[in-house]
Amino acid sequence: MKAQRVSLWLVAAMVFLWSVRARGLRRCLISMDIHPVEETFQEIKKTIQAKDTFQNVTILSTSETLHSIKPSDVCCMTKNLLAFYVDRVFKDHQELNPQILRKISSIANSFLYMHKALQRCQAQRQCHCREAATNATRIIHDNYDQLEVRSAAIKSLGELDVLLAWIDKNHQGTLVA
Ligand SMILES: *[C@@H]1O[C@H](CO)[C@@H](O)[C@H](O)[C@H]1NC(C)=O
Ligand SMILES: *[C@@H]1O[C@H](CO)[C@@H](O)[C@H](O)[C@H]1NC(C)=O
Repeated sequence: MKAQRVSLWLVAAMVFLWSVRARGLRRCLISMDIHPVEETFQEIKKTIQAKDTFQNVTILSTSETLHSIKPSDVCCMTKNLLAFYVDRVFKDHQELNPQILRKISSIANSFLYMHKALQRCQAQRQCHCREAATNATRIIHDNYDQLEVRSAAIKSLGELDVLLAWIDKNHQGTLVA
């Protein structure tokens, strides 16, 4: 009887450890629920995109950058893109309308949170960065550098729908916690 109880405990402990490990492996993707961010962006999209005067150039939406990213590079690319927005776009953009500013800040906070989660994944060796993601990231930074900084920031904000759609597509099926 006692032996049986001990083995039940052992099984319970193993199941618990296994579920912790499984949750750990999925954490990179669970933290990527971007639907609230998409909703926030939809509320300011028209205003932001109307301020973008360089309709003939693009920062994100070139075929050789986002769409050529393979599944194994998605985590690293997502991390790099979030860093690009957190470190450059949100800092370079100066918003005078307090209502728009509040929404941009909310998106920026979500990005910061998701970026930190992906950095933790990387520390746990679950988010490998290879040359393809590094190259694609460099192309995006080069595109950004080709414009005057204010125009580059507003254009990148206007392209948030491209980024969010890409994240949504590439993290599909893993959004449910
Ligand atoms: C895009 O248009 C602007 C003016 O609207 C012009 O100054 C710029 O050279 C154009 N850029 C490209 C890459 O065509
Ligand atoms: C990355 O860029 C370098 C230099 O442009 C190039 O030689 C290399 O083939 C690229 N690697 C990938 C994986 O695209």
